[in-house]
Amino acid sequence: MGKEKINVGLLGCGTVGGGVWKVLDMNREIIRKRIGIEIAVKKVLEKDKGKAKAAGIPVSKITDQPDDIFNDKDIDIVVEVIGGTTVAGEFLKKAMKAGKSVVTANKDLLAQDGQELFRIAGENNVDLLFEASVGGGIPIIRPLKECLAANRVETIYGIVNGTTNYMLTKMSEEGSSYADMLAEAQQKGYAEADPTSDVEGYDSARKLAILSSIAFNTRVSFKDVFIEGITKITARDIMYAKELNYTVKLLAIGKELDGRIEVRVHPTLISQNHPLAAVNDVFNAIFVRGNAVGDVMFYGRGAGELPTASAVVGDIIDAARNKVKGIKGRLACTCYDSKPIKDIGEIRTKYYVRMKVLDRPGVLAAIASVFGNQEVSLASVIQKRNIDKIAEIVWVTHDVLEKNIQDALKIIGGLSIVEDISNVIRVEGE
Ligand code: NDP
Ligand code: HSE
Repeated sequence: MGKEKINVGLLGCGTVGGGVWKVLDMNREIIRKRIGIEIAVKKVLEKDKGKAKAAGIPVSKITDQPDDIFNDKDIDIVVEVIGGTTVAGEFLKKAMKAGKSVVTANKDLLAQDGQELFRIAGENNVDLLFEASVGGGIPIIRPLKECLAANRVETIYGIVNGTTNYMLTKMSEEGSSYADMLAEAQQKGYAEADPTSDVEGYDSARKLAILSSIAFNTRVSFKDVFIEGITKITARDIMYAKELNYTVKLLAIGKELDGRIEVRVHPTLISQNHPLAAVNDVFNAIFVRGNAVGDVMFYGRGAGELPTASAVVGDIIDAARNKVKGIKGRLACTCYDSKPIKDIGEIRTKYYVRMKVLDRPGVLAAIASVFGNQEVSLASVIQKRNIDKIAEIVWVTHDVLEKNIQDALKIIGGLSIVEDISNVIRVEGE
């Protein structure tokens, strides 16, 4: 097409935007050789010009006027790393309507408005690429869309939030408290400014909505995902989990069975032998089961300046290659089906239930009988601690219907012999 270089307009120069500038700068020559053309950042939109200057961006490239980018005919690719669901969405739409391919790391926006954004990308025949939106630097979007395209994906298990994985790892390894570990994750800069989105599972749910839409070829939004955060996990649950040879992880789980989709985020007990059990600290991993490939796992840094920029720049390179070849919209939206999403009551899995009961004859039998009447089959029970005639009991069930266990727990919670149901955690695998 006779272009000398591909010009990029960068929206936002915070953690990720600054990283994008750095990666394009430090690997300029490698990238030019790989794609046969130079990629140059032509303009950077940033409210705080001092911040962009501090990131090393020449003053001549910095603007606080969005239209300087959208109206510049020489800009081929617009990169949105502002975040949030308002201005960022407007900017992406404007850029696509101006015929520019776009790259974003914005999971919040895609999980909420993905359908509309992909429609606009299709109408304007441009690329909308978003590798960094799930798992930071881990390649997972393009592998799902391309390398695994020969498969029907059966299951996805993801540890996709670094903050909560860091907290659970430290609570497990050092016996640290939830509050101390949250403070440490904030201090290390892993958590969002308002960490509610991390610990309540919203961040993981947004990432799961994106992954599931691609893996199961049906539109899954944030509001479709069942969400439970890690706020109720205590050191005692972690201690019991270890004793039962499990590890507690905040899992994002997507499954397709008989044409129906299951999408849920919740603390989960997984076997210590499962590869995800070894994913510790701030690391992320996504475990995918395809009907041809079997099990594959993608592992790496789910956040941070350079790892996230690695994924964003990978997308810029892809969009640039497409521009050079005159190809548009090659990796378009693949949500061509409309599959029903199961209510949480319809899922089948195992459960860990910790409760405090009166320590006297007949109590275990009475509770077991309620479980039995509600078709909840029990796999094991342990009784650890007795204080003042109160015993702490932990039950683990076989695979049962969620509705049945919830019904059983309602009845059990009302029995006079039960002081409290302290926690219920789902269990995956053997
Ligand atoms: P930051 O808050 O560090 O950066 C965003 C930047 O955009 C800030 O400098 C902000 O300026 C600027 N900005 C906000 N609104 C405007 C506007 N209207 N015009 C111009 N500039 C604006 O965020 P991150 O870099 O951490 O995140 C960016 C995106 O990447 C988000 O969608 C996030 O979810 C995603 N992401 C981030 C990861 C990470 O590790 N940080 C990992 C994976 C994805 P100011 O501060 O002055 O408001
Ligand atoms: N707060 C997020 C996390 C940042 O802890 O994973 C990356 O999306």
